[in-house]
Amino acid sequence: MTIDGPSGSGKGTISRAAARALNWRLLDSGALYRLVALAGRRAQVSLEDGRALAQLAEQFDIRFGSDESGGEIIWMGGQEVTGDIRTEEAGNDASKVAALPLVRAALLDRQRRFAVPPGLVADGRDMGTVVFPAAEVKIFLTASLSERAARRHKQLKEKGVTANLAALSLEIAERDQRDINRAASPLVAGADAVLLDTTGMPVDAVVRRVLEVARGRLRGRL
Ligand code: DC
Repeated sequence: MTIDGPSGSGKGTISRAAARALNWRLLDSGALYRLVALAGRRAQVSLEDGRALAQLAEQFDIRFGSDESGGEIIWMGGQEVTGDIRTEEAGNDASKVAALPLVRAALLDRQRRFAVPPGLVADGRDMGTVVFPAAEVKIFLTASLSERAARRHKQLKEKGVTANLAALSLEIAERDQRDINRAASPLVAGADAVLLDTTGMPVDAVVRRVLEVARGRLRGRL
């Protein structure tokens, strides 16, 4: 199952919950782009140098895991980097490196290797359109810009980070533009994806709806 959509549409939360409910594997492809950007910064590589970043992306040693309460833990080169890749700055860096075709190509096989039985929930921008075009269930999540900014604001506040709502909204809008307008795998809802506008919807209602769509498509096999 692929779940695509813009920043703050709730993809991360919904994908995690759906994967848990189905007992399927989870691919957080955004984390891969965040890791490439972090690896680039640490190696003092320019975030515009597609060739060098692609080389890092092909070689880096990363691992995804979770703690006892199901929270994510991510390691790069044996070092925990969960907090480092979840900052707004890391998100912006990720959006820049994600526009580079060489970086996207370097991550393609790595992403496809996540697909193992009994199933995968793949969360990103181009999961249904480019990485897993044959996926049987494709969802495109959206929400209004103001709701997405408010969600991100709340998330940051819970982490003890102070953020300005207006500035966040502007940042998300800029990231949307970069993700939508890039030539390589732009953010777009595939014609075969089920569009789900989550504005005003509580998380559990969205998860229920996503599972309903999946059960409908995979009739008898879930
Ligand atoms: O979902 P996220 O915020 O962790 O993603 C970070 C950036 O990575 C986002 O601005 C766009 C990019 N991205 C992408 O281009 N393709 C994906 N499949 C996932 C993320």
